[in-house]
Amino acid sequence: MSQFVKVESAITNKQTKKTIFQSMQTIEKLPNILSSNIRFRFLRDDEKSFTTCEKELPLVIEPVKEKSFTALAELVRQNSDWFNRQQDTYGALLFRGFEVETAAQFENILELLNVKLASNYYFGSAIRERRTDQVFTSSEAPGNTIIPPHNELNMVPLRPNFLAFFCQIEPSLYGETPIINTEKIFNELSPNLQHKFANSPQKYVRFVPNHLLGIVFEELSREEIAKMLQEGGFDFDWRADGSLDFECSYIPLFAHPRTGKLCFCLTTCDSLVTREWYRIVAQRYPLRKRFYYKFLPSKLYKTLEEGQTLTATAIDNSQQQSSTLNMYLVNEEGNNTKMTEAEAKEFGKAEWKNAAVFPWRKGDILVIDNLQVAHCRLNTQPPRKILTAFGNMCDIRDMKYNVRAKVG
Ligand SMILES: [Fe+2]
Repeated sequence: MSQFVKVESAITNKQTKKTIFQSMQTIEKLPNILSSNIRFRFLRDDEKSFTTCEKELPLVIEPVKEKSFTALAELVRQNSDWFNRQQDTYGALLFRGFEVETAAQFENILELLNVKLASNYYFGSAIRERRTDQVFTSSEAPGNTIIPPHNELNMVPLRPNFLAFFCQIEPSLYGETPIINTEKIFNELSPNLQHKFANSPQKYVRFVPNHLLGIVFEELSREEIAKMLQEGGFDFDWRADGSLDFECSYIPLFAHPRTGKLCFCLTTCDSLVTREWYRIVAQRYPLRKRFYYKFLPSKLYKTLEEGQTLTATAIDNSQQQSSTLNMYLVNEEGNNTKMTEAEAKEFGKAEWKNAAVFPWRKGDILVIDNLQVAHCRLNTQPPRKILTAFGNMCDIRDMKYNVRAKVG
């Protein structure tokens, strides 16, 4: 008996030491105290929907005593530069536990962070309602679908460095917005796949039918759309019926403008990548769907998914044509290629392994470095009201990365 106690106590001591060591490491990584009214930490396991390898995204900022909106606004106003530096360092900040209720308050906090908010959502991929001049509803995509990981406006060279979400109404079920450090995704990949992404431009090919131009380009005239596409380096073509085809290519790796860290902004538009996410959350779906996500042969799965116009990016309720977005990797011969089945699986697994997946709480403000960190949306049920805003537009063509130094 005493021997058993001894062994157990040795294990406990070892585990305790390990836990203390890990928490000391974590504490060392946290920023120094800024105000006696706030506390910094990373998300606890009990705040997450799934446990993954990501333990340090986002940095949580929460009140110790004073939770009012006024206290948060004053904190941000006095320390905006400091918060912006933390966003560069950690990739994402979560203001949790403060009393934030309205779109105007959300916008106010972003302005106090000195974000130059964008008023227009050109190239958008969803129907959005405007809540203030610079705050929009997030995507209203069907609740049973997963919106795959992406960086906002990945197909446009002039894109937001800053992206924010505000939880006005908690989802009644699920509806998480997982976030992923893109450098960690890249580091997770096999050398072959790293080499492929570092040397193959990703080409986005988009079609917008005439009747959806107003959703994608808001109030812009044809001439203004053409000018914007020219400035963005797109190849584009107007069809006789007024619909628009446009495409552009980039190497998806570049250096962060302030930290020099690797940013890996790839939107795969590949159903077999997203399938890895559906597989992991399959228990959230009815039995028939679970079988479909987990066991259907890959070729059949891909054919069925593509047949359901899952590439559609802006759909109204009419029977007219949908907008489509496809992504290809351009090979050495200049041909458009798709990821292989094995590559898609590997990529999807790397995304999931490094994702931070946590339920929303009312009043949460999540601010994301859109160059470093990708986001997505899991399946959900209404009501769910997540508002969004973005800004600090930057041009990724100015951010070359020394690819050879990274992958040889
Ligand atoms: Fe998005």
